[in-house]
Amino acid sequence: MKKVTVSLHPLGKEILTRKGSPLLDILQNVGVEFPCGGKGTCGKCRVRVLRGKIETGPEHQSMLDRLHLPPDWRLACMSNCDSDLLLEVEQYETIIQADESLFEFNPGQGLGIAVDLGTTTLVAQLLDLQSAKVLAVETSLNPQRKYGSDLISRLESALELGIDSMTGMIRDLIGEMIQRMMAGRTGSLEKVVIVGNTVMQHFFCGSDIRALSFYPFESKELGLKRFAPDQLHWKFPCNQILFYPSIGSFVGSDILAGILATGMHELEAYSVLIDLGTNGEIVVGNRRSLLCASTAAGPAFEGAKISRGMLAVSGAISSVVPVSGGWDCRVIGNGDPKGICGSGLIDAVAGFLRAGHLGDYGEILSGEPEIMLAGGVGITQKDIQEFMLAKAAIASGLEILLDRLHIMPEDLASVYIAGAFGTYINVENLVGTGMLGFTHDRIIKRGNTALMGAKMLLFSDPSIAEAALVKISHVNLESEPRFQDLFIGHMNFTPP
Ligand code: FES
Repeated sequence: MKKVTVSLHPLGKEILTRKGSPLLDILQNVGVEFPCGGKGTCGKCRVRVLRGKIETGPEHQSMLDRLHLPPDWRLACMSNCDSDLLLEVEQYETIIQADESLFEFNPGQGLGIAVDLGTTTLVAQLLDLQSAKVLAVETSLNPQRKYGSDLISRLESALELGIDSMTGMIRDLIGEMIQRMMAGRTGSLEKVVIVGNTVMQHFFCGSDIRALSFYPFESKELGLKRFAPDQLHWKFPCNQILFYPSIGSFVGSDILAGILATGMHELEAYSVLIDLGTNGEIVVGNRRSLLCASTAAGPAFEGAKISRGMLAVSGAISSVVPVSGGWDCRVIGNGDPKGICGSGLIDAVAGFLRAGHLGDYGEILSGEPEIMLAGGVGITQKDIQEFMLAKAAIASGLEILLDRLHIMPEDLASVYIAGAFGTYINVENLVGTGMLGFTHDRIIKRGNTALMGAKMLLFSDPSIAEAALVKISHVNLESEPRFQDLFIGHMNFTPP
Protein backbone atom coordinates (compact mmCIF):
# COMPACT_ATOMS: atom_id res chain seq x y z
CA MET A 1 0.00 0.00 0.00
CA LYS A 2 1.49 3.35 -1.07
CA LYS A 3 2.03 5.93 1.67
CA VAL A 4 2.28 9.72 1.54
CA THR A 5 3.46 12.27 4.11
CA VAL A 6 1.23 15.13 5.20
CA SER A 7 3.19 17.95 6.89
CA LEU A 8 1.28 20.58 8.82
CA HIS A 9 2.45 24.17 9.00
CA PRO A 10 3.05 26.07 11.27
CA LEU A 11 3.15 23.32 13.89
CA GLY A 12 5.73 21.23 12.06
CA LYS A 13 3.76 17.96 12.51
CA GLU A 14 4.35 15.20 9.95
CA ILE A 15 1.86 12.37 9.44
CA LEU A 16 2.41 9.27 7.32
CA THR A 17 -0.82 8.02 5.81
CA ARG A 18 -2.29 5.80 3.10
CA LYS A 19 -2.29 7.46 -0.34
CA GLY A 20 -5.81 8.62 -1.17
CA SER A 21 -7.05 8.78 2.44
CA PRO A 22 -9.44 11.63 3.34
CA LEU A 23 -7.64 14.67 4.75
CA LEU A 24 -10.52 15.10 7.21
CA ASP A 25 -9.52 11.84 8.98
CA ILE A 26 -5.94 13.02 9.36
CA LEU A 27 -6.72 16.52 10.60
CA GLN A 28 -9.48 15.44 12.96
CA ASN A 29 -6.86 13.42 14.87
CA VAL A 30 -4.69 16.49 15.35
CA GLY A 31 -7.32 18.81 16.77
CA VAL A 32 -8.64 20.52 13.64
CA GLU A 33 -12.34 21.23 13.91
CA PHE A 34 -14.95 20.73 11.17
CA PRO A 35 -17.72 23.08 12.28
CA CYS A 36 -20.25 22.24 9.51
CA GLY A 37 -19.56 18.54 9.90
CA GLY A 38 -17.59 18.36 6.67
CA LYS A 39 -20.44 19.53 4.43
CA GLY A 40 -18.18 22.05 2.72
CA THR A 41 -20.36 25.02 3.67
CA CYS A 42 -18.54 26.85 6.48
CA GLY A 43 -15.06 27.11 4.98
CA LYS A 44 -13.53 26.82 8.47
CA CYS A 45 -11.45 23.74 7.62
CA ARG A 46 -9.53 25.56 4.89
CA VAL A 47 -5.89 24.70 4.28
CA ARG A 48 -3.33 26.29 1.97
CA VAL A 49 -1.31 23.90 -0.18
CA LEU A 50 2.32 24.99 0.23
CA ARG A 51 3.77 21.89 -1.46
CA GLY A 52 2.15 18.99 -3.34
CA LYS A 53 -1.20 18.89 -5.07
CA ILE A 54 -4.83 18.42 -4.07
CA GLU A 55 -7.16 17.97 -7.05
CA THR A 56 -10.60 19.56 -6.86
CA GLY A 57 -13.74 18.06 -8.33
CA PRO A 58 -16.62 20.30 -9.57
CA GLU A 59 -18.40 20.37 -6.20
CA HIS A 60 -15.21 21.26 -4.28
CA GLN A 61 -14.31 23.94 -6.83
CA SER A 62 -17.75 25.54 -6.67
CA MET A 63 -17.46 25.71 -2.84
CA LEU A 64 -14.03 27.34 -3.16
CA ASP A 65 -15.42 29.85 -5.68
CA ARG A 66 -18.36 30.62 -3.43
CA LEU A 67 -15.99 31.31 -0.53
CA HIS A 68 -13.75 33.47 -2.81
CA LEU A 69 -10.64 31.57 -1.71
CA PRO A 70 -7.33 32.10 -3.56
CA PRO A 71 -6.26 29.28 -5.93
CA ASP A 72 -3.89 27.53 -3.49
CA TRP A 73 -6.54 27.00 -0.79
CA ARG A 74 -8.61 23.85 -0.34
CA LEU A 75 -11.36 22.66 2.00
CA ALA A 76 -9.86 19.84 4.07
CA CYS A 77 -13.24 18.14 4.40
CA MET A 78 -13.44 17.69 0.62
CA SER A 79 -9.78 16.74 0.00
CA ASN A 80 -7.81 13.53 -0.28
CA CYS A 81 -4.11 12.91 0.34
CA ASP A 82 -3.00 11.84 -3.14
CA SER A 83 0.60 13.09 -2.89
CA ASP A 84 3.09 14.26 -0.27
CA LEU A 85 1.68 17.51 1.06
CA LEU A 86 2.81 20.54 3.03
CA LEU A 87 -0.30 22.32 4.26
CA GLU A 88 -0.86 25.51 6.16
CA VAL A 89 -3.77 24.87 8.50
CA GLU A 90 -5.66 28.06 9.09
CA GLN A 91 -7.05 26.93 12.44
CA TYR A 92 -3.48 26.50 13.68
CA GLU A 93 -2.67 30.07 12.75
CA THR A 94 -0.65 31.22 15.70
CA ILE A 95 -0.58 34.75 16.94
CA ILE A 96 2.97 35.05 15.69
CA GLN A 97 3.20 38.71 15.54
CA ALA A 98 4.13 40.49 12.38
CA ASP A 99 4.82 44.20 12.67
CA GLU A 100 2.82 46.79 10.77
CA SER A 101 4.21 50.01 12.24
CA LEU A 102 5.24 52.89 10.01
CA PHE A 103 8.76 54.31 10.26
CA GLU A 104 11.00 56.87 8.59
CA PHE A 105 13.33 55.51 5.93
CA ASN A 106 15.69 56.48 3.10
CA PRO A 107 14.34 54.85 -0.06
CA GLY A 108 16.51 52.19 -1.71
CA GLN A 109 16.32 49.89 -4.71
CA GLY A 110 14.84 46.41 -5.07
CA LEU A 111 13.46 44.17 -2.32
CA GLY A 112 14.54 43.43 1.23
CA ILE A 113 13.56 40.82 3.81
CA ALA A 114 13.57 41.28 7.59
CA VAL A 115 13.58 38.13 9.73
CA ASP A 116 12.93 37.82 13.45
CA LEU A 117 14.36 34.42 14.38
CA GLY A 118 12.81 33.60 17.75
CA THR A 119 13.29 30.63 20.04
CA THR A 120 9.64 29.73 19.57
CA THR A 121 8.51 31.51 16.41
CA LEU A 122 9.89 33.01 13.22
CA VAL A 123 8.45 35.95 11.33
CA ALA A 124 9.73 37.31 8.03
CA GLN A 125 8.48 40.24 5.98
CA LEU A 126 9.31 41.13 2.39
CA LEU A 127 9.54 44.87 1.75
CA ASP A 128 9.78 47.07 -1.29
CA LEU A 129 12.89 49.12 -0.47
CA GLN A 130 11.60 52.06 -2.52
CA SER A 131 8.37 52.50 -0.55
CA ALA A 132 8.92 50.40 2.64
CA LYS A 133 5.62 48.70 1.79
CA VAL A 134 5.27 45.18 3.19
CA LEU A 135 4.63 42.88 0.22
CA ALA A 136 4.47 39.50 1.96
CA VAL A 137 4.66 37.91 5.40
CA GLU A 138 5.71 34.41 6.42
CA THR A 139 5.45 32.97 9.90
CA SER A 140 6.49 29.64 11.34
CA LEU A 141 7.15 27.87 14.58
CA ASN A 142 10.83 27.19 15.20
CA PRO A 143 11.36 23.52 14.25
CA GLN A 144 13.98 23.26 17.03
CA ARG A 145 11.13 23.29 19.55
CA LYS A 146 11.26 19.51 19.52
CA TYR A 147 14.59 19.85 21.37
CA GLY A 148 12.97 21.84 24.19
CA SER A 149 11.27 25.16 24.63
CA ASP A 150 14.08 26.97 26.44
CA LEU A 151 17.55 27.89 25.32
CA ILE A 152 19.34 25.66 27.83
CA SER A 153 17.62 22.52 26.46
CA ARG A 154 18.46 23.60 22.90
CA LEU A 155 22.11 24.09 23.82
CA GLU A 156 22.20 20.69 25.55
CA SER A 157 20.72 19.03 22.46
CA ALA A 158 23.19 20.79 20.19
CA LEU A 159 26.10 19.65 22.37
CA GLU A 160 24.80 16.09 22.22
CA LEU A 161 23.80 15.91 18.55
CA GLY A 162 26.25 18.42 17.07
CA ILE A 163 25.36 21.92 15.95
CA ASP A 164 25.12 21.04 12.24
CA SER A 165 21.57 19.71 12.41
CA MET A 166 20.39 22.80 14.34
CA THR A 167 22.13 25.08 11.85
CA GLY A 168 20.81 23.27 8.78
CA MET A 169 17.24 23.14 10.13
CA ILE A 170 17.02 26.87 10.71
CA ARG A 171 18.86 27.94 7.55
CA ASP A 172 16.63 25.67 5.45
CA LEU A 173 13.43 26.98 7.02
CA ILE A 174 14.36 30.65 6.54
CA GLY A 175 15.44 29.89 2.96
CA GLU A 176 12.05 28.25 2.28
CA MET A 177 10.17 31.19 3.83
CA ILE A 178 12.12 33.61 1.62
CA GLN A 179 11.51 31.51 -1.49
CA ARG A 180 7.78 31.46 -0.82
CA MET A 181 7.68 35.24 -0.42
CA MET A 182 9.78 35.80 -3.55
CA ALA A 183 7.84 33.35 -5.77
CA GLY A 184 6.60 35.09 -8.93
CA ARG A 185 8.26 38.45 -8.14
CA THR A 186 10.40 40.32 -10.59
CA GLY A 187 12.39 42.70 -8.30
CA SER A 188 15.87 41.68 -7.15
CA LEU A 189 16.44 40.64 -3.54
CA GLU A 190 19.02 43.13 -2.30
CA LYS A 191 19.23 42.48 1.40
CA VAL A 192 18.18 40.04 4.12
CA VAL A 193 18.49 41.25 7.73
CA ILE A 194 18.14 38.61 10.45
CA VAL A 195 17.90 39.30 14.17
CA GLY A 196 17.54 36.85 17.01
CA ASN A 197 18.79 35.95 20.46
CA THR A 198 22.40 34.93 20.96
CA VAL A 199 21.76 31.20 20.88
CA MET A 200 19.74 31.49 17.66
CA GLN A 201 22.54 33.65 16.23
CA HIS A 202 25.07 30.91 17.04
CA PHE A 203 22.83 28.19 15.59
CA PHE A 204 22.15 30.09 12.36
CA CYS A 205 25.76 31.17 11.90
CA GLY A 206 27.17 27.74 12.81
CA SER A 207 29.29 29.33 15.58
CA ASP A 208 30.87 27.40 18.44
CA ILE A 209 28.19 27.05 21.11
CA ARG A 210 30.43 25.66 23.85
CA ALA A 211 31.23 29.17 25.08
CA LEU A 212 27.51 29.79 25.64
CA SER A 213 27.04 26.44 27.35
CA PHE A 214 29.70 26.57 30.08
CA TYR A 215 30.86 29.07 32.69
CA PRO A 216 31.66 31.97 32.25
CA PHE A 217 29.16 31.84 29.32
CA GLU A 218 31.08 34.33 27.22
CA SER A 219 31.17 33.87 23.49
CA LYS A 220 33.65 35.64 21.25
CA GLU A 221 31.33 35.21 18.26
CA LEU A 222 28.74 37.87 19.03
CA GLY A 223 29.58 40.22 16.16
CA LEU A 224 27.87 41.00 12.85
CA LYS A 225 27.95 38.06 10.43
CA ARG A 226 27.70 38.31 6.64
CA PHE A 227 26.81 35.45 4.32
CA ALA A 228 26.55 34.72 0.62
CA PRO A 229 23.51 32.62 -0.45
CA ASP A 230 25.60 29.56 -1.39
CA GLN A 231 27.16 29.43 2.11
CA LEU A 232 23.63 28.87 3.41
CA HIS A 233 22.66 26.51 0.55
CA TRP A 234 20.06 29.06 -0.55
CA LYS A 235 19.25 28.69 -4.20
CA PHE A 236 18.39 32.30 -4.95
CA PRO A 237 20.55 35.39 -5.44
CA CYS A 238 20.83 38.06 -2.77
CA ASN A 239 23.42 40.84 -2.49
CA GLN A 240 23.67 41.04 1.30
CA ILE A 241 22.64 38.62 4.04
CA LEU A 242 23.38 40.00 7.50
CA PHE A 243 22.89 38.52 10.96
CA TYR A 244 23.09 41.49 13.30
CA PRO A 245 25.37 41.45 16.38
CA SER A 246 24.30 40.35 19.85
CA ILE A 247 24.61 42.63 22.86
CA GLY A 248 25.85 39.96 25.27
CA SER A 249 25.97 36.22 25.79
CA PHE A 250 22.25 36.01 26.49
CA VAL A 251 20.93 39.25 24.97
CA GLY A 252 20.77 39.13 21.22
CA SER A 253 20.26 41.32 18.19
CA ASP A 254 16.48 40.99 18.62
CA ILE A 255 16.84 43.28 21.63
CA LEU A 256 19.27 45.56 19.78
CA ALA A 257 16.61 45.83 17.06
CA GLY A 258 13.99 46.52 19.76
CA ILE A 259 16.11 49.39 21.12
CA LEU A 260 16.38 50.86 17.60
CA ALA A 261 12.63 50.41 17.06
CA THR A 262 11.66 52.28 20.24
CA GLY A 263 14.38 54.94 19.78
CA MET A 264 15.15 54.75 23.52
CA HIS A 265 18.89 55.05 22.74
CA GLU A 266 18.29 58.58 21.40
CA LEU A 267 15.99 59.93 24.13
CA GLU A 268 17.03 62.15 27.02
CA ALA A 269 14.32 60.64 29.23
CA TYR A 270 14.86 57.21 30.75
CA SER A 271 12.75 54.36 29.47
CA VAL A 272 12.49 50.58 29.80
CA LEU A 273 11.99 47.88 27.19
CA ILE A 274 10.71 44.56 28.50
CA ASP A 275 10.47 41.69 26.05
CA LEU A 276 8.29 38.92 27.43
CA GLY A 277 9.44 36.39 24.85
CA THR A 278 11.13 33.13 25.75
CA ASN A 279 14.07 34.83 27.46
CA GLY A 280 12.47 37.75 29.29
CA GLU A 281 14.96 40.53 28.47
CA ILE A 282 14.99 43.97 30.10
CA VAL A 283 16.73 47.14 28.88
CA VAL A 284 16.82 50.41 30.86
CA GLY A 285 18.50 53.67 29.95
CA ASN A 286 18.59 56.77 27.80
CA ARG A 287 20.72 58.33 25.06
CA ARG A 288 23.86 58.26 27.22
CA SER A 289 23.84 54.64 28.35
CA LEU A 290 21.64 51.58 28.43
CA LEU A 291 21.85 48.49 30.64
CA CYS A 292 20.33 45.19 29.68
CA ALA A 293 19.83 41.79 31.26
CA SER A 294 18.04 38.55 30.52
CA THR A 295 15.91 36.59 32.97
CA ALA A 296 14.52 33.09 32.89
CA ALA A 297 10.97 34.45 32.76
CA GLY A 298 9.72 33.59 29.33
CA PRO A 299 8.78 29.90 29.26
CA ALA A 300 5.88 30.41 31.69
CA PHE A 301 4.31 32.94 29.31
CA GLU A 302 4.74 30.69 26.30
CA GLY A 303 3.06 27.80 28.05
CA ALA A 304 6.14 25.65 28.51
CA LYS A 305 6.03 25.19 32.27
CA ILE A 306 2.30 25.56 32.82
CA SER A 307 0.29 22.32 33.20
CA ARG A 308 -2.29 23.29 30.56
CA GLY A 309 -0.07 25.93 28.99
CA MET A 310 0.09 26.35 25.25
CA LEU A 311 1.01 28.93 22.65
CA ALA A 312 -1.59 31.45 21.56
CA VAL A 313 -3.10 29.12 18.97
CA SER A 314 -6.57 27.81 18.25
CA GLY A 315 -8.06 26.44 21.49
CA ALA A 316 -6.01 28.56 23.89
CA ILE A 317 -7.76 30.63 26.56
CA SER A 318 -6.36 34.08 25.78
CA SER A 319 -8.29 36.22 28.23
CA VAL A 320 -10.08 35.63 31.50
CA VAL A 321 -12.64 37.98 33.03
CA PRO A 322 -14.22 37.31 36.42
CA VAL A 323 -18.03 37.06 36.33
CA SER A 324 -20.39 36.19 39.10
CA GLY A 325 -19.74 32.63 40.16
CA GLY A 326 -16.97 31.92 37.68
CA TRP A 327 -14.81 33.05 34.82
CA ASP A 328 -15.64 34.29 31.34
CA CYS A 329 -12.90 32.89 29.11
CA ARG A 330 -12.16 33.93 25.52
CA VAL A 331 -10.88 31.00 23.48
CA ILE A 332 -8.86 31.59 20.30
CA GLY A 333 -10.90 30.18 17.41
CA ASN A 334 -14.09 30.17 19.56
CA GLY A 335 -13.96 26.39 20.03
CA ASP A 336 -13.63 24.41 23.24
CA PRO A 337 -10.65 25.38 25.39
CA LYS A 338 -7.65 23.08 25.15
CA GLY A 339 -5.27 25.07 27.35
CA ILE A 340 -4.18 28.57 28.30
CA CYS A 341 -1.64 30.96 26.76
CA GLY A 342 0.46 33.75 28.36
CA SER A 343 -2.08 36.57 28.22
CA GLY A 344 -4.76 34.26 29.67
CA LEU A 345 -2.42 33.22 32.48
CA ILE A 346 -1.76 36.85 33.46
CA ASP A 347 -5.51 37.59 33.44
CA ALA A 348 -6.24 34.48 35.49
CA VAL A 349 -3.64 35.23 38.20
CA ALA A 350 -4.73 38.90 38.41
CA GLY A 351 -8.36 37.76 38.62
CA PHE A 352 -7.58 35.21 41.38
CA LEU A 353 -5.80 37.91 43.37
CA ARG A 354 -8.69 40.36 43.02
CA ALA A 355 -11.20 37.72 43.96
CA GLY A 356 -9.16 36.80 47.07
CA HIS A 357 -8.44 33.22 45.96
CA LEU A 358 -4.69 33.47 46.60
CA GLY A 359 -2.67 34.14 49.73
CA ASP A 360 0.40 36.39 49.92
CA TYR A 361 2.68 33.56 48.80
CA GLY A 362 0.44 32.42 45.98
CA GLU A 363 -1.18 29.59 47.94
CA ILE A 364 -4.68 28.65 46.77
CA LEU A 365 -6.70 29.56 49.85
CA SER A 366 -9.48 27.03 49.25
CA GLY A 367 -6.90 24.25 49.66
CA GLU A 368 -7.90 22.81 46.28
CA PRO A 369 -5.00 21.76 44.03
CA GLU A 370 -6.41 23.76 41.11
CA ILE A 371 -8.72 26.67 40.23
CA MET A 372 -10.90 25.66 37.29
CA LEU A 373 -11.54 28.19 34.53
CA ALA A 374 -13.51 26.57 31.70
CA GLY A 375 -13.92 23.31 29.82
CA GLY A 376 -11.68 21.33 32.15
CA VAL A 377 -8.83 23.84 31.91
CA GLY A 378 -7.58 25.14 35.23
CA ILE A 379 -4.57 26.72 36.92
CA THR A 380 -2.77 24.49 39.42
CA GLN A 381 -0.82 25.46 42.51
CA LYS A 382 2.38 24.62 40.64
CA ASP A 383 1.35 26.88 37.73
CA ILE A 384 0.96 29.78 40.14
CA GLN A 385 4.41 28.99 41.51
CA GLU A 386 5.83 29.09 37.96
CA PHE A 387 4.14 32.41 37.36
CA MET A 388 5.65 33.80 40.58
CA LEU A 389 9.14 32.64 39.52
CA ALA A 390 8.73 34.53 36.22
CA LYS A 391 7.33 37.59 37.97
CA ALA A 392 10.14 37.60 40.55
CA ALA A 393 12.80 37.25 37.83
CA ILE A 394 11.48 40.27 35.91
CA ALA A 395 10.88 42.41 39.00
CA SER A 396 14.35 41.67 40.50
CA GLY A 397 16.15 42.18 37.19
CA LEU A 398 14.43 45.51 36.73
CA GLU A 399 15.28 46.63 40.25
CA ILE A 400 18.96 45.84 39.76
CA LEU A 401 19.18 47.74 36.47
CA LEU A 402 17.42 50.79 37.96
CA ASP A 403 19.79 50.72 40.95
CA ARG A 404 22.84 50.51 38.71
CA LEU A 405 21.66 53.64 36.88
CA HIS A 406 20.81 55.34 40.20
CA ILE A 407 17.25 55.99 39.11
CA MET A 408 13.85 55.22 40.60
CA PRO A 409 10.77 53.76 38.86
CA GLU A 410 9.23 57.24 38.86
CA ASP A 411 12.16 58.53 36.74
CA LEU A 412 11.02 56.40 33.82
CA ALA A 413 9.05 58.22 31.14
CA SER A 414 7.95 55.11 29.23
CA VAL A 415 7.80 51.36 29.74
CA TYR A 416 7.70 49.53 26.41
CA ILE A 417 6.29 46.02 26.45
CA ALA A 418 7.42 43.96 23.49
CA GLY A 419 7.26 40.31 22.63
CA ALA A 420 5.24 37.71 20.90
CA PHE A 421 2.13 38.20 23.00
CA GLY A 422 2.85 41.71 24.35
CA THR A 423 0.07 43.22 22.25
CA TYR A 424 -2.56 40.89 23.69
CA ILE A 425 -1.70 41.45 27.34
CA ASN A 426 -4.16 43.31 29.53
CA VAL A 427 -1.76 45.88 30.99
CA GLU A 428 -3.91 46.56 34.04
CA ASN A 429 -3.82 42.89 34.89
CA LEU A 430 -0.06 42.73 34.33
CA VAL A 431 0.39 45.58 36.80
CA GLY A 432 -2.14 43.90 39.11
CA THR A 433 0.10 40.84 39.50
CA GLY A 434 2.90 43.04 40.87
CA MET A 435 5.33 42.13 38.10
CA LEU A 436 6.02 45.77 37.26
CA GLY A 437 6.15 48.49 39.86
CA PHE A 438 4.60 51.10 37.56
CA THR A 439 1.22 52.59 37.06
CA HIS A 440 -0.24 51.38 33.79
CA ASP A 441 -0.42 54.88 32.22
CA ARG A 442 3.33 54.74 31.43
CA ILE A 443 3.16 51.31 29.82
CA ILE A 444 3.17 51.24 26.02
CA LYS A 445 2.59 47.99 24.12
CA ARG A 446 4.99 48.04 21.15
CA GLY A 447 4.36 44.61 19.60
CA ASN A 448 7.15 42.86 17.75
CA THR A 449 9.94 45.43 18.16
CA ALA A 450 12.56 42.95 16.94
CA LEU A 451 10.89 42.70 13.53
CA MET A 452 10.28 46.44 13.40
CA GLY A 453 13.98 47.10 14.15
CA ALA A 454 15.08 44.52 11.56
CA LYS A 455 12.95 46.30 8.95
CA MET A 456 14.53 49.64 9.86
CA LEU A 457 17.96 48.03 9.42
CA LEU A 458 17.07 47.15 5.83
CA PHE A 459 17.32 50.88 5.12
CA SER A 460 20.58 51.62 6.92
CA ASP A 461 24.07 50.26 7.09
CA PRO A 462 25.38 48.38 10.15
CA SER A 463 27.10 51.49 11.53
CA ILE A 464 23.73 52.70 12.93
CA ALA A 465 23.40 49.55 15.02
CA GLU A 466 27.08 49.62 15.97
CA ALA A 467 26.72 53.21 17.24
CA ALA A 468 23.83 52.10 19.48
CA LEU A 469 25.74 49.01 20.58
CA VAL A 470 28.57 51.00 22.16
CA LYS A 471 26.09 52.62 24.55
CA ILE A 472 24.73 49.29 25.79
CA SER A 473 26.22 47.25 28.64
CA HIS A 474 25.12 43.76 29.57
CA VAL A 475 24.52 42.96 33.24
CA ASN A 476 24.81 39.33 34.24
CA LEU A 477 22.12 38.95 36.90
CA GLU A 478 23.46 35.58 38.01
CA SER A 479 26.66 37.17 39.26
CA GLU A 480 24.87 40.08 40.93
CA PRO A 481 25.19 39.48 44.73
CA ARG A 482 21.78 41.01 45.52
CA PHE A 483 19.85 39.09 42.90
CA GLN A 484 18.94 36.07 45.06
CA ASP A 485 17.72 38.20 47.97
CA LEU A 486 15.66 40.43 45.69
CA PHE A 487 14.30 37.39 43.89
CA ILE A 488 13.12 35.80 47.14
CA GLY A 489 11.67 39.15 48.20
CA HIS A 490 9.54 39.24 45.03
CA MET A 491 8.24 35.68 45.47
CA ASN A 492 4.98 36.93 46.89
CA PHE A 493 1.93 38.94 45.98
CA THR A 494 2.20 41.48 48.76
CA PRO A 495 1.56 45.00 47.50
CA PRO A 496 4.77 47.12 47.77
S1 FES B 1 -15.91 21.61 7.75
FE1 FES B 1 -17.09 23.21 6.97
S2 FES B 1 -16.23 23.52 5.04
FE2 FES B 1 -15.12 21.86 5.78
